[in-house]
Amino acid sequence: MTYQLLNGTGDVKKLRVRYNMAKWLTTVSLIAVVTMAVYALLYPSIRMDQWKNRVTDEELEDAQEQPSPPPAHGSITTHIRNSTCRFTADNMIFPLENSNYTQFQPDDTLRQVLDYVSDADFNKYCDQWDPVYGMSGHLEMSNENENCGAWQQEFAQLQQQRLQQLDRFRAGTLKSPKDVPRFASYLCQEDPQHRGSHGCGGLADRMIGIVSTFFYALMTDRGFLMSWPEGDPARLESVFEKPTIDWSFDPSEMRSLYKKPGYQTVNTLNFNWQRIRGVMFPQGPSQDFNQLWPEPYVQVQSNRGYVIRTFDYSDHYAPKLEQMGLSKSNHWRCIVDYLFKPKLESRRFINAYKKLFQMDSVLSIGLQIRTNDTAMADPDKDTNTLEDWDYYFTCANKLRDARREPHHRRVVYFLLTDSSKLREQFVSMNHDKELRDKFIQDDDTSMVVTGLPIEHIEAKTVKTKAEIGLTEDDSNLEKLLAGTHSAIIDNWLLSYTDYRLISRQGFGKIAAFHASNSHSTISLPRLESKEHLVNCASPHAFTSFETLSTWWSLG
Ligand SMILES: *[C@@H]1O[C@H](CO)[C@@H](O)[C@H](O)[C@H]1NC(C)=O
Ligand SMILES: *[C@@H]1O[C@H](CO)[C@@H](O)[C@H](O)[C@H]1NC(C)=O
Ligand SMILES: *[C@@H]1O[C@H](CO)[C@@H](O)[C@H](O)[C@H]1NC(C)=O
Repeated sequence: MTYQLLNGTGDVKKLRVRYNMAKWLTTVSLIAVVTMAVYALLYPSIRMDQWKNRVTDEELEDAQEQPSPPPAHGSITTHIRNSTCRFTADNMIFPLENSNYTQFQPDDTLRQVLDYVSDADFNKYCDQWDPVYGMSGHLEMSNENENCGAWQQEFAQLQQQRLQQLDRFRAGTLKSPKDVPRFASYLCQEDPQHRGSHGCGGLADRMIGIVSTFFYALMTDRGFLMSWPEGDPARLESVFEKPTIDWSFDPSEMRSLYKKPGYQTVNTLNFNWQRIRGVMFPQGPSQDFNQLWPEPYVQVQSNRGYVIRTFDYSDHYAPKLEQMGLSKSNHWRCIVDYLFKPKLESRRFINAYKKLFQMDSVLSIGLQIRTNDTAMADPDKDTNTLEDWDYYFTCANKLRDARREPHHRRVVYFLLTDSSKLREQFVSMNHDKELRDKFIQDDDTSMVVTGLPIEHIEAKTVKTKAEIGLTEDDSNLEKLLAGTHSAIIDNWLLSYTDYRLISRQGFGKIAAFHASNSHSTISLPRLESKEHLVNCASPHAFTSFETLSTWWSLG
């Protein structure tokens, strides 16, 4: 507190105002203390010391420094935790009935961290929850609250027009052959020559193929359709809602419909950049995609991206994209959120974690540790330990210490891994101080996991159908559906942490793209070369989108 010399009546008046203010605040504090005492009797769990300090020191001091209108009634009580929200192991999510997906409750580790976040954040979190409906399923999409440019509405109109034309084409009532609507589709289809091969790849491969095919449609004013077949691993419609355009279609119907006007199939599965460039930019940087294929229908099978590269490579599209409001950093999130919304079943689960990761009082760091297929295929042979993967924690600790700000009361390490041994040891650090001192070196850091069954994660891409004993019966379709939901939940959550450390594979890459901040992801070396770890406290440690787009699935 600073003391000033009084000079003149102005200061005396100010002093009186302050005196009255202080008197008033003392009364308020007294009332508060009494209220608190009553509360303490009713709810002994509220931490008195913390509460008292906040009212007497901080608020009084603030009010004295800058005399302002007395706080509105109730503004002090907002610091009391809303006692309506008493989360238990089975009340956070109220599962939807009539769903073929068995929904899970968030893991205990999520509820445990909530004890450490600020009261204001806790109450905001509580507001997302309802005693009857559980966690809210409202997931903000980037098109709602971020600048994604001005193409969305126009494309939705185009799509609607194309679909109407398609109906008339089907019914044989098109006025002229020139009216045959132009479409591009993304297709995942198992190669009959290599039955059992995982033709379309995992979630990352598919999303990359989808985003680049949509990009092609957007640049050429074609309607856009996409499809994953049932059982491989689940129909798109069973895991995603359509927030804007209707993209469902029947691939074989489409091919027979377009037999006469003509269709082009394009397959860029597993292409490298030279070959992609040869297909998409045969004329080099001046290439106009409209000149690639004259056929009204183009069917694409792909697990390769080229959108980020287009920004640097194409003279033709770089200025156009800028004008549309798309950039290297926002395009992925804008397109993905335009096309997909995870189904309500997974959205509630996602929200329960997302709302924690994005709290002001929390610094969240995602760790994606892909061990190897052995751990998932054969849990008995899973020998992963914290020691093996210690470099992830070394990196996370450095990042945490460099990025933590005073308002971050709690740090959350959120682990995604295919090794259940590793996950168990990670969680045990919440109560095992010795382990925590060894790997985490901080008592304000909580370990959080989803607790979703690991065997399900991307089962299809790791094991062949034969290996998981797949037949076409319902229970296995259910298993595949659950695995797909898990993969989507994990991926969306990894994109919502403040920072993330990823394995050098597609899965972490698309989460990085979805985060749309190119300074929030660090890719870590493989276990064999862990000594090549970068200094994760450095701003140069982040892996740029340009670098990510050079990895095998491109971008
Ligand atoms: C559940 O699966 C059955 C059989 O595959 C299907 O007929 C039904 O529409 C599905 N229900 C929902 C809600 O997706
Ligand atoms: C406490 O949370 C419940 C449930 O979210 C909400 O309905 C209620 O309005 C909240 N109470 C206060 C005082 O914020
Ligand atoms: C997978 O990791 C385990 C250790 O957890 C190791 O023993 C095994 O050799 C690895 N397998 C492959 C194929 O790298």
